[in-house]
Amino acid sequence: MNYREEIIKLKKEKNALILAHYYQVDEIQDIADYVGDSLGLSQKAAEADVNIIVFAGVHFMAETAKILNPKTKVLLPDLQAGCSLADSCPYDDFRAFKAKYPEHIVVSYINTSAAIKTVSDVICTSGNAVEIVNSFPKDQKIIFAPDRNLGGYVNRVTGRNMVLWEGACEVHDILTTEAIFKLKDEHPKAKIIAHPECQAQILEAADYVGSTTGLLNYTKNDDAREYIVATESGILHQMYLDSPDKKFYVVPSDDTCSCNDCPYMKLNTMEKLYLALKNEKPSVSLEPETIELARKPIERMLEISKKLKLI
Ligand code: 13P
Ligand code: SF4
Repeated sequence: MNYREEIIKLKKEKNALILAHYYQVDEIQDIADYVGDSLGLSQKAAEADVNIIVFAGVHFMAETAKILNPKTKVLLPDLQAGCSLADSCPYDDFRAFKAKYPEHIVVSYINTSAAIKTVSDVICTSGNAVEIVNSFPKDQKIIFAPDRNLGGYVNRVTGRNMVLWEGACEVHDILTTEAIFKLKDEHPKAKIIAHPECQAQILEAADYVGSTTGLLNYTKNDDAREYIVATESGILHQMYLDSPDKKFYVVPSDDTCSCNDCPYMKLNTMEKLYLALKNEKPSVSLEPETIELARKPIERMLEISKKLKLI
């Protein structure tokens, strides 16, 4: 079967929109109506005026789309596409943790379950975390969850002392400076760029730190010719499309390959996308109270981001 043709046909027939994250396989990125980072994808989901959104990403992203656009059917091609970072912050444990800091507000990274969002004051993404935190007075006490690496990075950039939940992403937390410096020895002119979910020593060694969209824009506008990329392999597809004459080396997660794939993102395939559109399932569903409570901190993030012209 030619999945590409069938998906295009069904998309038209059913008035559907395909949103894809940069970590999806190349063919899914190529067929999507929009490819972006978590911030751009949430904005697109909020604005979508369609019958169906097919979210080629992971569960928390599809959930966020449902929260922002509850009347629209939101499909996730594989419901098992979770996120180790979101899973590192279980609701009951987080409630107990939060109770220890009654004067603190909660800034949560978008990589969390809808349940965690219901007990958060504002959401942030890697594309706006510094600005969201800086939108609060310097003396505001803050809990940042769930990524200790992103939280630590924001603490260093903003000079804050936020209390950090000890979560991490298994795809970024595993990367080492040894692997980066090995690539740097092989490609001495290459610049190092990193996603803020990487550990502090990597972020300190990087020439640029940013969200997936930030990394992509940096490579587009910068005049270096080669980049060592500390994030998931999928981003290289758009980097090569935007800058075909440049070279990109992804930091490998181990010695067995020259890649670093998110096992959850890569669960989505063209076949599953086609079946999801055809059968209109699996879909994401949430209790109306959860949607109502989780929407407030996400909308607060979108409002701040619009005001600061980040979106
Ligand atoms: P971005 O919002 O930077 O695309 O990050 C999403 C993510 O899951 C990174 O691992
Ligand atoms: Fe989650 Fe990490 Fe995969 Fe991003 S790369 S979806 S944070 S497990």
